[in-house]
Amino acid sequence: MHIVFAASECVPFAKTGGLADVVGALPPELVKLGHQVSVYIPLYRTVRPFLPEQLTFAVRSITIPFEYYNRFAGIVDGGLRDGVQYYFVDCPELFDRDGFYGPRSGAGDYGDNAERFGLFCRAVLEASKQLGVPDIFHVHDWQAAMLPVYLHSVYYFDPALRTAGTVLTIHNAGYQGWFPPSTTPQLLLPWDMFTVDKVEQNDTFNFLKGGLVYSDYLTTVSPTYAKEIQTGEFGAGLDGLLRKRHWDLRGILNGVDYAHWNPAHDPKLAAHYSPENLAGKAECRRDLLHAFGLEGVQDDTAIIGIVSRFATQKGFDLVSQIADQMTDRNLAVVALGSGEPYYENFFRSWAQRKPVQVAVQVRYDDALAHKVEAGADMFLMPSRYEPCGLNQIYSLKYGTVPVVRATGGLEDTIEEWNADNRTGTGFKFSGYHAGDLLWAIDRALWVFANDKPGWQTLMRNGMAKDYAWAHPAREYVEVYEEVLRRRG
Ligand code: ADP
Ligand code: GLC
Repeated sequence: MHIVFAASECVPFAKTGGLADVVGALPPELVKLGHQVSVYIPLYRTVRPFLPEQLTFAVRSITIPFEYYNRFAGIVDGGLRDGVQYYFVDCPELFDRDGFYGPRSGAGDYGDNAERFGLFCRAVLEASKQLGVPDIFHVHDWQAAMLPVYLHSVYYFDPALRTAGTVLTIHNAGYQGWFPPSTTPQLLLPWDMFTVDKVEQNDTFNFLKGGLVYSDYLTTVSPTYAKEIQTGEFGAGLDGLLRKRHWDLRGILNGVDYAHWNPAHDPKLAAHYSPENLAGKAECRRDLLHAFGLEGVQDDTAIIGIVSRFATQKGFDLVSQIADQMTDRNLAVVALGSGEPYYENFFRSWAQRKPVQVAVQVRYDDALAHKVEAGADMFLMPSRYEPCGLNQIYSLKYGTVPVVRATGGLEDTIEEWNADNRTGTGFKFSGYHAGDLLWAIDRALWVFANDKPGWQTLMRNGMAKDYAWAHPAREYVEVYEEVLRRRG
């Protein structure tokens, strides 16, 4: 099978969150299963260092018409990596900027995102006609969701594209790509698409909704989230549509790329360790405390690690409600993250008030993220919702015990510690209440302080879990096969 991935992020070229990890790791796994995969992402400024000075164009120029003008995009050949062919959609006036979706300063989204990602989707379709039409277009999140919409409108009668099936993966239903109604003529789409059963929602043009309506099959990144998004609480206005399409919706739990996330050989760590020999973790702990300027933290103090986008989704308002109670306990907090100013300021002021116990680094830093995973004792994810979540799965591998809210992929990947039969991998709470979070932290602290063998068992239980991509990759192949079968 030939599969084309279209997405807005992919490691190592462009990353803000887990989407990039998935788009980077799943294609090589599909190649291992004998399939041909091409990945298209925009040629952002961050991609440039990965390319030679002299760009090699697979397609020199594609004309993308808009309402009042044409734009021109090139397709840069990124070559093969691990058997995967990479293509970059080059349109410098839209993509050569300092952020992916908005200015790095965090001041909202770019005003022309409909045009940017509309162009991206059309360019992938046009490029495929020249470089190879796949059996399946696998598109990710709202940024790529216009591709199936175009296939069912502007390209409907194109004989070259008629056989291709489409799969859309929802990584986060909270981000949908809402734009004004005038997006319809701007992208040269017919006005009869701007109805509530198609791309319209509350008088806005909704990219993700369009993708959900027009894709052959829908997936999301955990079985629990697949159920949750069919409810009013989690569906962000799309639950009705998702309920209607529930036969075409499947939750496939993300995997982990253990080539990059394994404490036994992670080059970003001060020392290595494994379930057989945990000694190196103590060195990683010292290194982490040093990186955060918390050298005074005692050996019997539990270190709680946080690595996250600072967004409402991640539940840090619960932490802010119990901040003082937390620091009354024998614990230290190291937080790495950036995003909404409200949360950045909360962590900064907490660290200022409790400089011996709390430290925060407000930025994106991949190497430091690895150090937190390895050097902390516990990893905190109190998410309001979490489609899958990768950090808690990395934490398991690093022997860093997750304390999580039981939602989405957190519910599917973490099992509550059972002191009687020594099973479980972490600590969970269900209600979105600060008191419940504190109680989960207290349960973890109790085992950490009073049951050392129990804590070691917890760590080893987590480290023994296997979330390699081999399994989910096979599930995706089943989905692609189902789509092809239905299309006859
Ligand atoms: P989401 O995609 O919602 O942000 P995930 O848990 O799926 O959540 O993935 C987050 C990914 O982004 C992980 O690989 C994590 O290590 C990384 N990450 C998030 N924030 C930072 C940061 N400030 N610095 C480095 N890596 C980060
Ligand atoms: C989204 C979700 C996260 C998920 C990631 C990769 O960013 O917020 O939960 O792990 O996508 O699928």
